[in-house]
Amino acid sequence: MTIETKYWPAELSRAGIEEAAAAIAAGGVVAFPTETVYGLGGDARSTEAVGRIFAAKGRPSDNPLIVHLARGASVAGLAKEVGAVEAALMEAFWPGPLTLVLPVREGAVSPLVTAGLDTVAVRVPAHELARELIERAGCPVAAPSANRSGRPSPTRARHVLEDLDGRIDGVLDGGATGVGLESTVVRVVDGTIYILRPGGVTREKLREAVGGLAVVAEETKEGDRRTGAADAGVRIGAGAPGSLSIGANAARLTGTEANAVRPAGTEANAAYPVGTEAPRSPGVKYTHYAPRGEMLLVNGEGDPLREAVRKLASQAADAGRRVAVLSCSEHAAGYTADAVFDCGPRGEPEKAAQTLYAALRECDEKGVDYIVAEGYSEDGIGAALMNRLRKAAGGREIFVP
Ligand code: TXA
Ligand code: MG
Repeated sequence: MTIETKYWPAELSRAGIEEAAAAIAAGGVVAFPTETVYGLGGDARSTEAVGRIFAAKGRPSDNPLIVHLARGASVAGLAKEVGAVEAALMEAFWPGPLTLVLPVREGAVSPLVTAGLDTVAVRVPAHELARELIERAGCPVAAPSANRSGRPSPTRARHVLEDLDGRIDGVLDGGATGVGLESTVVRVVDGTIYILRPGGVTREKLREAVGGLAVVAEETKEGDRRTGAADAGVRIGAGAPGSLSIGANAARLTGTEANAVRPAGTEANAAYPVGTEAPRSPGVKYTHYAPRGEMLLVNGEGDPLREAVRKLASQAADAGRRVAVLSCSEHAAGYTADAVFDCGPRGEPEKAAQTLYAALRECDEKGVDYIVAEGYSEDGIGAALMNRLRKAAGGREIFVP
């Protein structure tokens, strides 16, 4: 069924906030900007509203939603208890791109929000429009990213409409979002902070805020370090058909194709031998952020990286594919492809984080069917950026020595 989706432009945001808040209060679902990506919000207490969010996105019902609050103090209404470490994290990072997974207070939100878990994910966004909207709606607002499931998260109102026009009650335009990647999701267990999803609040910042505590980057440990060379349409090594040779030792592959299809969390790793309980986010098992084209992530530095990317792009073009390259500013002018995206200076991964999702969407629009993306260092926001690049690449990743 198609419904009319209202559009509230940035200039009218005052009036827009009023109308959008009224819609949420009445059980509607409305998209709004946050400092990370656009969210699709509805009253977290209403099973009907939350059901509409899942339906509009086409989201699997076992993937729980983040509840957004206007102020940290309201967390008491949602969580059964808030530990000292969690309290310190809220103090340090709220409002901001940090989501905390807490034991849920029974009956505080619809069971659809938590997908039946005994925990609830909560955050206070740093975006003025978002907080005002929530405040005026007068309820906790459940809001996943406002994209169709499996599409890149929206960083502009236009992206929301591309995916959800006719399926939601409205979108509040606040311009381009700041961080460009989703919030960091953490859970604290026995004095250890587990990062279930890397994001705008970096591991380094978390460590700094809670000096002395262990911070474990859960999702980046496994499941994302997967490579499917065959999948990538690239054969590496002498003799293979269509062999790609980018140096004596060619590229080093990590993992196997089998790894690429194994859901994260089904295997032992150094941090969690099989049998131990490690907190996990249901979201990690889904392939997110996937562009329609095939993507290959290429790690390396300097000339060898440039050379490899150039070869991969021209090889794919020769094979008749429509090719895009996601490049740092320093390398962009040296690449030839159907589209070359300048994702900012190599030393500023924040820029690449801001542009990634828009670039992936543009690749889709342009009918690109092969994307070669340069990898980044995993420091700071680089960890979240690489996590999303790996997901977009579906595990197709190579390392250039
Ligand atoms: O930046 C963001 O977090 C954006 C904006 C709109 O706030 N929201 C967002 O929501 O990215 P969504 O639904 O796309 O991602 C929520 C993530 C999923 O990976 C989900 O599995 C996880 O949070 N999550 C939600 N509730 C959880 C829980 N109780 N335990 C563990 N993970 C949870
Ligand atoms: Mg999402």
